Amino acid sequence: MDATERMMLSFTLNGRPVEVDVEPSDLLLDVLRNRLGLKGTKRSCDVEVCGACTVLMNGLPVSSCTTLAADADGQTVLTIEGVAQGGELDRVQRAFVEHAGMQCGFCTPGMVLATTALLNVNPKPDNAEIRHFLRGNICRCTGYIKILEAVKSLV
Ligand code: FES
Ligand code: FES
Repeated sequence: MDATERMMLSFTLNGRPVEVDVEPSDLLLDVLRNRLGLKGTKRSCDVEVCGACTVLMNGLPVSSCTTLAADADGQTVLTIEGVAQGGELDRVQRAFVEHAGMQCGFCTPGMVLATTALLNVNPKPDNAEIRHFLRGNICRCTGYIKILEAVKSLV
């Protein structure tokens, strides 16, 4: 395939089928934000260090800043926009609100999605397991104590 030739992707995004044509080099983050209008997924470091761009692919966290959109073809992707249901925050989102686990909120979509993935694979993580699982998500204003308290409240 020519590097500039466009390709059609089909995948499940936040519970709904989507189709979008992309270039083979397009990043998932750019397609989500700029083609599909989902601005909740944030760009920060752009080099897979900070976790701000975290989305779940087939239930597992990936950095969308370093994931090709083409890799989403045929997969199931969850972004922060798909977490709340029926206009109601889900339990992870509520816990972050109730425990003040955010200030600017820039890291929060990634934190919520990483926590969702953690609880899916390990519903009763201990402190060390929470810290280990969330080690790829950086917060520069809340600190980690309130985030940890929010996650612990769900266990
Ligand atoms: S923007 Fe992707 S990990 Fe930082
Ligand atoms: S709340 Fe601002 S970076 Fe985490």
